Amino acid sequence: MLPDFRLETYFSKWEFKAKYHMTASDAETITLHELLKMATPAEQEQFMLMPLGYTETFGAPDLRQTIAAIHTNKTAEEVLCFAGASEGIFAANNVILDKDSHSIVVTPNYQSHETLPLAICEATGIPLDPDDNWSLDIDRVAAAIKPNTKLITINFPHNPTGAILSLDRYHALIELCRKHGIYILHDEIFNGLGPSTAQHLPYVADLYERGLSLNVMSKAYGLPGLRIGWIVCQDKELLSKMERFKHYLSICNSGPSERLANIALTYRSKLLARNCSIVDENLPKWDAFFNRHQDLFEWQRPDGACTAYPRYKGADGVEAFCRDLVEKSGVLLLPSTIYRSQLGETPIDRFRLGLGRKNLDAGIAAMNKHIDDNY
Ligand SMILES: Cc1ncc(COP(=O)(O)O)c(C=O)c1O
Repeated sequence: MLPDFRLETYFSKWEFKAKYHMTASDAETITLHELLKMATPAEQEQFMLMPLGYTETFGAPDLRQTIAAIHTNKTAEEVLCFAGASEGIFAANNVILDKDSHSIVVTPNYQSHETLPLAICEATGIPLDPDDNWSLDIDRVAAAIKPNTKLITINFPHNPTGAILSLDRYHALIELCRKHGIYILHDEIFNGLGPSTAQHLPYVADLYERGLSLNVMSKAYGLPGLRIGWIVCQDKELLSKMERFKHYLSICNSGPSERLANIALTYRSKLLARNCSIVDENLPKWDAFFNRHQDLFEWQRPDGACTAYPRYKGADGVEAFCRDLVEKSGVLLLPSTIYRSQLGETPIDRFRLGLGRKNLDAGIAAMNKHIDDNY
């Protein structure tokens, strides 16, 4: 039995109830109408006239082709589509790992990255270092490798810190995994999103024969309602195993969502530029907020993604601060308890902040008032 997914359970309680959602990890979405307006008349007609039958388990051939073209030297045969990133994470862990395996994952993490391997086998957590810009110590990864280590899961830009690993450490990690024949599941769902100056990493599937590039429409593109995700991987046998595993899950993607995802990815640079500009506009607002409350918070801008993980210094603790803030002032944040790990200690004085939504002003004003009234 899998444990409760703390983040999703917290969101089930508050996401649609809190007045100000200040912790979202997805970029501001657009409407169906706005998305279709980006398309040519022929693409619009293809969407309107499509039959609503089952679709191919691997994903629509033209969508797979569009995804492959985002990568370097990849073909549609190296792409497998999923219902969101979540289904891809579930399939990859279940297909790569068995009870005799060992898995490694960074902490803090998006919870399924650790609870899914832990439900199957032994796992080791490697903490990202807040004193080193949340970087990953590759020597610690090397020391954690065992003869039965099959999978390492990483996520850069990272949820919740927004950290991006340096390119030299990324290459060192890939070389290490190549030496030991270990798969890397790289959750790349924030790739392309962040301050427009962000230096994003190359996709792992383009660099490494055992790399799984996990991506989705949900975050960087701001279209989570489509529930279209994918894994790109050079190992076609592994893809085929995951495709057969998907027969037990969603079987196939939603056909209308595949059409819409194909349109969004065809115009992806426009969407990404729009979403990064929202982050650019929001960052100075948070700079000003944290500058005003230096006694209560420690602030560090994220490298990428649209989340950051500031430190709360108040004596009441971050859990009480976040609870009061949502209950009294309607502002939703995610305290670091949501990100605690079974695999080792994680910071206990942080909270996740969202930077990708428009119209933050009213929420920031509510936070300022809450602090002025209570602290
Ligand atoms: C790092 C990370 N991976 C995966 C997911 C799941 O994405 P999806 O909602 O598209 O399934 C999330 C969602 O918040 C996430 O933050």
